[in-house]
Amino acid sequence: MSELLLFSPLTIRNVELRNRIVVPPMHQYSAEKGYPTDWHLMNAGKFAAGGAGLVVIESTKVERRGCGTLGDLGIWDDSFVEPLRRLVKFIKQQNSVAGIQLGHSGRKARAKRPWEGDGPLQRTAEIEDWDAWNPVAPSAIAHSEKWPVPRELARHEVKDLVQAWGNAAKRADQAGFDVLELHGAHGYLVHQFLSERSNHRKDEYGGSELNRMRLITEITEAVRTHWPESKPLFVRLSVEDNAGWGPEQSARLAKTLKAKGVDVIDCSSGGITDQAPILGKEIKYSYQVPLSEYVRRNAGIMTMAVGLIIHGDQAEQILRQGQADLIAVGREILNNPNWPMDAALKLGIDGPFRSVPPQFGYWLGTRAKRGFGTRPSTWQNGLKDTGNVL
Ligand SMILES: Cc1cc2nc3c(=O)[nH]c(=O)nc-3n(C[C@H](O)[C@H](O)[C@H](O)COP(=O)(O)O)c2cc1C
Repeated sequence: MSELLLFSPLTIRNVELRNRIVVPPMHQYSAEKGYPTDWHLMNAGKFAAGGAGLVVIESTKVERRGCGTLGDLGIWDDSFVEPLRRLVKFIKQQNSVAGIQLGHSGRKARAKRPWEGDGPLQRTAEIEDWDAWNPVAPSAIAHSEKWPVPRELARHEVKDLVQAWGNAAKRADQAGFDVLELHGAHGYLVHQFLSERSNHRKDEYGGSELNRMRLITEITEAVRTHWPESKPLFVRLSVEDNAGWGPEQSARLAKTLKAKGVDVIDCSSGGITDQAPILGKEIKYSYQVPLSEYVRRNAGIMTMAVGLIIHGDQAEQILRQGQADLIAVGREILNNPNWPMDAALKLGIDGPFRSVPPQFGYWLGTRAKRGFGTRPSTWQNGLKDTGNVL
């Protein structure tokens, strides 16, 4: 269809993505007791219809205790499979690939929604299982002063958790997802094990770097026993957390995970402290792209770049420079769910409206043919017209 890398297909294992554009996991805080609602269908559906190659459903928790907020999605029981299948079916109908991120919040569980003030929740009668939702972590160390001290997981509980991730992968497969991402970033449970700051354990899950990597390595092994060989597996890491874990550690971990069947490292940053690098505090285009480039070059694994990638020409440049294999567009796709179609138009692709459903693609195509509408309301080149420097 095009010589542009952004719009060239990519096959990972047996799954073909029609382009390199990914909608990264983005919490909707809208589930009911862990079950998806119509909101999730509408949300994932509009991104798939907008032309993204892969839509990854938000961090979906492998156990109840791992829920970050009241509105988290869950996958800790077989009853979640059917409602999740509904999302998958719709995404696939739009010729997009359906992915899901598995997660566990650890010591950052039981928190307020960001727009309700962030930080820990206060106990209310509405939360029936308050005590069962007690935050757990590798060690009894609070995230920061305002957070509660979590309970240290017993060794046998860590083993059970590994199985919980494996069982969640099995359910994700049953629901029809074709890409699975493990959340190892942003200061949540897996990252808490990786970080010397939050992990002071004396058993085989703490101490040396190898020991701190053990949880995610065992999770990957458990997941791979349930997740088909034919389907890609991604892991999201905070490649730099500015608290002792950086690109070198991440590249070493990426090599280990690759040997265990991981195909792509999704390169994010921050979250183990409240300091930058952290979402909302960074204001530079492509701020995490150097992390993706480092892991890609040093671990010999495919990577996904994410973080303030706003424009089509910006995304294309990242791919051309070999800094990533996939481009995730997060908040900008909230701004414009038709971002892939829009980028195709701006980058000059032949037939930019063909990759979206005819319900709107047909009409936009006919409007453009009449010589009108080639400058939609979102028209603006990124690099060339705004004077912004990468
Ligand atoms: C509303 C919202 C929810 C998010 N939820 C998740 C999540 O569930 N899992 C995750 O790994 N990252 C999550 N993120 C981070 C995004 O996936 C992405 O990495 C981040 O927004 C930076 O990319 P951007 O600058 O393109 O938005 C979330 C971000 C936003 C804005």
